[in-house]
Amino acid sequence: MPADARPAPIKLGTWPTPVEPAPRLAAAIGLAADALWIKRDDLTGLGGGGNKLRKLRYTGAQALAAGATALITTGAPQSNHARLTAAVAARLGLGCVLVLEGEQPGVLQGNLALDRLAGAELAWAAGPAPDRVRHEVERQARRVRDGGGVPYVIPFGGSSSFAALGYVDCGTELLAQVPGLDHVVVAFGSGGTMAGLVACLGADRVVGVDTGAVPDPRATLDELLDGMPGRHTPQDRLQIDGGQVGAGYATLARVPPRRCGWPPAPRASSSTPPTRRGRWPGWALSSPTGGSSRGTAPFSCTPAGCLGCSVIPGSRT
Ligand SMILES: Cc1ncc(COP(=O)(O)O)c(C=O)c1O
Repeated sequence: MPADARPAPIKLGTWPTPVEPAPRLAAAIGLAADALWIKRDDLTGLGGGGNKLRKLRYTGAQALAAGATALITTGAPQSNHARLTAAVAARLGLGCVLVLEGEQPGVLQGNLALDRLAGAELAWAAGPAPDRVRHEVERQARRVRDGGGVPYVIPFGGSSSFAALGYVDCGTELLAQVPGLDHVVVAFGSGGTMAGLVACLGADRVVGVDTGAVPDPRATLDELLDGMPGRHTPQDRLQIDGGQVGAGYATLARVPPRRCGWPPAPRASSSTPPTRRGRWPGWALSSPTGGSSRGTAPFSCTPAGCLGCSVIPGSRT
């Protein structure tokens, strides 16, 4: 089967993931206590969980259909997508090479330790320059082939139009769980998460908060949606907020000052990974809709850094 075949997705995780109310967080950003819900996509199961697993159900199926013996992908050193690719490769009995930006650190911490525990090989492409990463991916793919294997390269962040179908599935789950949902707000990295949600729920109900991972998020999203048959959405209707990029992707974002009681007490039931932590409350507090009864925030949970997205049911003002 060709590498771009469209096989049925594999199961990989535990579905559907729960939605939970977040009353204290809602109050902290100025919403009614029952107006903010968190889609717990950190509880997807495999490899510590996280949003990338929904996309890997599709790309993993493509890799198997292509006869792959090893998955190769790229990311920042603490990439959640890289961690889950390593876990998926282990689950499927495939090899895994992660091409990571930068220099190998002296001690492998966080996701890097989990990558190694899952058996992935780490290859380092010094500097974030896309060319260096691409050359290293090509070199690693050659190495796998020279060893008699079949490499399968998964794009940055696991996002392709086919993989985004994983977030069409998520949108379908959400509609069953919160039938009157008003808006879904989600972090925008490589774009597949938002693309799938837009394809399922429509552009008017989905807000992406850019994290600075791609140079032109609107064009990236447009291209992903274009590759989803029958899913065309006019570019000017896509809602992407660029006000929270700060110093750029994979950098620590500043949590906004203590307005509306934010940040909440440390015992709050969920935590965001540090590189996302300041961005969604920043959006919620600064956007004209955030902090009102329509505002909401994307959400992430677990120290390993995984995704949830938040939902406002029927709270349109
Ligand atoms: C916790 C979390 N939420 C959301 C996203 C966005 O996902 P995508 O790369 O599909 O835009 C990411 C990845 O950047 C993430 O790690």
